[in-house]
Amino acid sequence: MLSERLEKELNSQINKEFYASYLYLSMAAYAEDIGLEGIAHWFRLQSEEEYEHAMKIYEFVNEKGGRVVLEAIDKPQTEYKSVKQLFELALEHEEYVTDSINKLVDLAIAEKDHSAVVFLQWFVEEQVEEEDSVNSILDKFKFMREDGMGILMLNKDLGSRE
Ligand SMILES: [Fe+2]
Ligand SMILES: [Fe+2]
Repeated sequence: MLSERLEKELNSQINKEFYASYLYLSMAAYAEDIGLEGIAHWFRLQSEEEYEHAMKIYEFVNEKGGRVVLEAIDKPQTEYKSVKQLFELALEHEEYVTDSINKLVDLAIAEKDHSAVVFLQWFVEEQVEEEDSVNSILDKFKFMREDGMGILMLNKDLGSRE
């Protein structure tokens, strides 16, 4: 059983994960268009991961006897100023999602829903990893010029993500 409020907030989190998936796909399309296929590859994998996050919550809501209600997904940004901006916006978005997950945990605790608290722990840990991986890419920008070889090296590096 799920409380009405928790069901509503989990549904809203499903929408946020789908939006993240859509946003990263939009970033992949941008990278693809400017000829940075490695960076596009990285964002496509990131987009797939976000889809999986949404589906994890989808399955949990169903298992708990709740009802999944899909809402419209917002249009993601399609034009970007630079490669660096992609990662800055990705980090901003991950920080927003981390905050949202933390609020969900607070709610699950307030509603005394232990199974939801346990379920959400996976997301708590995942967000640490997500922020760290984007942060470590952003760190590399400190050592390179935007239009230089650095971007091509990053493109090659991110293209090998499994
Ligand atoms: Fe996610
Ligand atoms: Fe994420």
